[in-house]
Amino acid sequence: DATADYYRLTMRRARVQILPAPFGPTTIFGYNGITPGPTIRARRGRGTVVRQINALPQRHPVLGYRPTTSVHLHGSDSEPQYDGWADDVTQPGEYKDYYYPNDQDARTLWYHDHGVHHTAQNAYMGCAAQYHTSDDLEDSLPIPKGYWNGRPGHYDVPLMIRDAIFANSGELIYDDESESNLMGDVILVNGVPWPVMKVERRKYRFRILNASLSRGYRLALSSGDPMTIIGHDGGLAPAPVEVGSFRTGPAERYEVVIDFARRKVGERVVLRNLGVPNSREFASTQRIMRFDVVSDATDAANNSIPSVLNPGEGPYSPMNLQTSEAVRTRRWVFRRKNGLWTINGRTWDPARSDASVGLDDVEVWQFENRGGGWNHPVHVHLIDFRILDRNGKPPFAWERGPKDTAYVGENETVRVLARFGPRRGKYMMHCHNLVHEDHDMMTHFDVG
Ligand code: C2O
Ligand code: CU
Ligand code: CU
Repeated sequence: DATADYYRLTMRRARVQILPAPFGPTTIFGYNGITPGPTIRARRGRGTVVRQINALPQRHPVLGYRPTTSVHLHGSDSEPQYDGWADDVTQPGEYKDYYYPNDQDARTLWYHDHGVHHTAQNAYMGCAAQYHTSDDLEDSLPIPKGYWNGRPGHYDVPLMIRDAIFANSGELIYDDESESNLMGDVILVNGVPWPVMKVERRKYRFRILNASLSRGYRLALSSGDPMTIIGHDGGLAPAPVEVGSFRTGPAERYEVVIDFARRKVGERVVLRNLGVPNSREFASTQRIMRFDVVSDATDAANNSIPSVLNPGEGPYSPMNLQTSEAVRTRRWVFRRKNGLWTINGRTWDPARSDASVGLDDVEVWQFENRGGGWNHPVHVHLIDFRILDRNGKPPFAWERGPKDTAYVGENETVRVLARFGPRRGKYMMHCHNLVHEDHDMMTHFDVG
């Protein structure tokens, strides 16, 4: 079929050296045996077929569970049967073919495991990766380009950030503190602990994905230089926004331009984490990675960030939707009840749908986090929304773009607006603290 690209990915157990000696190798579960898995790049209008082969062992070597899998392409509007919902599981030794249409605005997506009750463990073991789509609009903009390969002329850089806990042996330790949070003291960026990247004195585009199970970050540069937010979960922002720091919860994507021309050759800039409430910080989690400015720009292109990026004209772009178009408001309350993680007082039941939304209806969804102590990054599958307000106030400067995950901090109420389509069928919504999601802060609803 000339209208699609085909990939085979094999989820398997591998041993990789993540920490330097004297730590030993780490057992991971990875797409093609690596973590992060391969970045898939697709073009708008051309489909992708991925055969996901579950070649994992019948039992996790330490935790003892059976690693059934389901692969979710987070950020896509796939047909629901290819969405990778939690109970659509593939057993070890089996495979499933997924079809992705790639007909949305260019964006940074990610694919990760979603197997029922083991999503957090499978993702923690390494089953996560980025997936990028491009389109004509993005090509036409003078933003930094060229997928990063470490060589001059490549200025579009994926950064997948996560935390982890390691034993002295080098093996991962999965400690979710009685099904509440997993807070690691080692930061991995693209699978490498606290890496150093050599940069030129010019602008770079970073596709920052928080792939942590539970940890939120507040990111800032040690130089005090601003960062320019140009994109979100659902693609390029309507307009660039300069910030001194920004907060990111699990599963959010922020595309950020950093201009190293503000620095001199020989200077070092640390990407720092200032921390967020309810995330346990260690001295070691206060830094993410370092950029060493090693030369002047090697190319003549002088990227300038245009003042309009994405007018958001498509029918499913949330940016031009108005609240007056909404046919109803639905409330969703996220709270811990009797030791369980609940949405509107209930835990997930694959046999129960919690809402029926008309195809192409516009609705306001109100996410309420009742009570202190926890953050809930709320994710809705298959749609993009925009944040209307946060506790009645305008959204933060960095989150004014198309999104699919909203970070709902303690005692916060976040209202979002979306058009539900174009697919009919079963959609999921859940907390993307994957420990909460597994136990069982998740629901599904129907569209159409
Ligand atoms: Cu990235 Cu249902 O999740
Ligand atoms: Cu998703
Ligand atoms: Cu949660």
